[in-house]
Amino acid sequence: MLIRRIKLLKCLGARYSSSHYVTTPIFYVNAAPHIGHLYSAVIADAHCRYQKLRHPATDVRLCTGTDEHGTKIQQAAASHNVPVDQYCQQISSRYREVFQAAHIQNDDFIRTTEERHKQAVAQFWRTLHSRGHIYSAAYSGWYCVSDEVFLTDSQLRLDEASGTRYSLESGHPVEWTEETNYMFRLSQFQDDVRHWVKQEARIRPAKFEKILLDTLSEPLPDVSVSRPSNRVHWAIPVPGDDTQTVYVWLDALVNYLSSLGYPNEKFLEHWPPAQQVIGKDILKFHGIYWPAFLLAVGLQPPQQIYVHSHWTVDGQKMSKSKHNVVDPVQAAQQYTMEGLRYFLLREGVAHSDGNYSQVKAQRILNSELADTLGNLLSRACAKSLNPCQVYPQPHAEHLADLLQSVDAAKRLRDSLLQLSERCEAHYECNHFHLVADTTMAALHAANNFFESAKPWELKGGKEGANEPRLATIIAMTMDTLRLCGIVLQPIIPQLATRLLDKLSVPASQRGWDCLNENFARRDSSSNISSSNSRSHQLDGQSSAMLFQRIMDEKDKPVEQKPQPQQAKRSKSKKERLKTATTATTTTS
Ligand code: MSP
Repeated sequence: MLIRRIKLLKCLGARYSSSHYVTTPIFYVNAAPHIGHLYSAVIADAHCRYQKLRHPATDVRLCTGTDEHGTKIQQAAASHNVPVDQYCQQISSRYREVFQAAHIQNDDFIRTTEERHKQAVAQFWRTLHSRGHIYSAAYSGWYCVSDEVFLTDSQLRLDEASGTRYSLESGHPVEWTEETNYMFRLSQFQDDVRHWVKQEARIRPAKFEKILLDTLSEPLPDVSVSRPSNRVHWAIPVPGDDTQTVYVWLDALVNYLSSLGYPNEKFLEHWPPAQQVIGKDILKFHGIYWPAFLLAVGLQPPQQIYVHSHWTVDGQKMSKSKHNVVDPVQAAQQYTMEGLRYFLLREGVAHSDGNYSQVKAQRILNSELADTLGNLLSRACAKSLNPCQVYPQPHAEHLADLLQSVDAAKRLRDSLLQLSERCEAHYECNHFHLVADTTMAALHAANNFFESAKPWELKGGKEGANEPRLATIIAMTMDTLRLCGIVLQPIIPQLATRLLDKLSVPASQRGWDCLNENFARRDSSSNISSSNSRSHQLDGQSSAMLFQRIMDEKDKPVEQKPQPQQAKRSKSKKERLKTATTATTTTS
């Protein structure tokens, strides 16, 4: 029966295989966004941007949003003395603003308090119910309000002194709760979920697949999927029983469907999701509950769950009580949003926690974006070497000679020959840090080549005798910059755009297939038909200064106390952020 159902669903999936639907978790509105939240969104965004670049015919769709129901949110609103709907609106807007500032290209931003979502949850519930997967039962157990879950004894720690029990996983306190709930027959989906998890590359990185399989080696209990309305009233009512509200995780997970217009059948154009990006703390919900819920209503579970680890700050978990929560808006004031994006994707690896430190961020951004990428562009565009401000063509005989006689030129060619294939392999696995590594290696090779070729010694030769060689060196350098700019578009879209704009690379030549056109492939490939079009004027309107070095606080000029008229002119933090992010050219 299940096999037949999956076969049918596979057919439906195949009909719409040109779609690539990606989601981020929806973010709780009980507190403002921090860099950990932005990290989930930036991973999904870079993944989607790469898909669009590599597979331009695919319909890539990214959805994000906010998770607005439950006791936690009710309590947060009460503690701020703000009506709960107003509170949700405020925090949800902050997520939207941060994502806009970070140039997250989401196609939808869903809020679980929207009517379209409530309708989808009601329909999803009715389907589960009509298929016999939900029953009513008296339920008692240790309930953790902060995590919105019931926990078993083995998941708890007892503090002898106070007699309070805490969740081992989250550290939050629990309370004994007895109530009548609707239960979902999760136990019946154990084998199906295990089978799904075991499919090739279903859960990535593989470490998280193992964690799920360990959990699935024990019998799965049925789960409670409703709460009494008098306890959790800020939630969606259970259809046909307003004494109960829908469990927040069931409510939240359905957002991935409601964003596509479920239950309208058009949602199948994008279903199932190609990749769902989540943090490691919500693995059980996405790796066990979610596929079980979907199978229960007769839908295909996602093709891949991509799990990332967490950011700590100077080695410590981020928490309000430790006052170490990193606000992305503030961080962007120091490093720019592009700098922050680059740092998160360059330094974060999905399989283990990353440590955020200002010192490290500054070191990486200065050395890679300013000294390696930025410096190479400034060198190639320097008026002293490139007075006509052109992106020249290499001259065949000088190219051949440089490749033969200058070791650094050979190393640069080898590096470029491997660039697209390597970066493609890394992007396919969301290994953004390795894309950055590979690109930086090519840029280092180009900087070394520049040093070795000493173009400044070729200036002003007799009757321009040295010009062809000088042009060839600049062409090789600019080819490297162009290729790295194309490759880096998903990671630092604004900086890459500025780089490609400066080099006057037309929008039609920024695709992945354009990586094959470069000096390194000149003799090994005949596909250089459009290379002529690359001998052209640089864009005089764009600056060759790509990324300004970040200075240590101690090196910054001491700020003068603003005079009254200056004080009026000085910008607010928010305005400065806006300027920093809009000063860059927007992508098409
Ligand atoms: N609302 C749920 C998700 C429901 S999805 C149907 C939720 N929200 S959350 O706001 O708490 O977390 C959202 C995402 O941020 C999760 O992927 C979580 O792992 C991630 N992060 C929260 N703190 C983080 C770090 N310190 N570091 C990296 N990511 C972190 O869970």
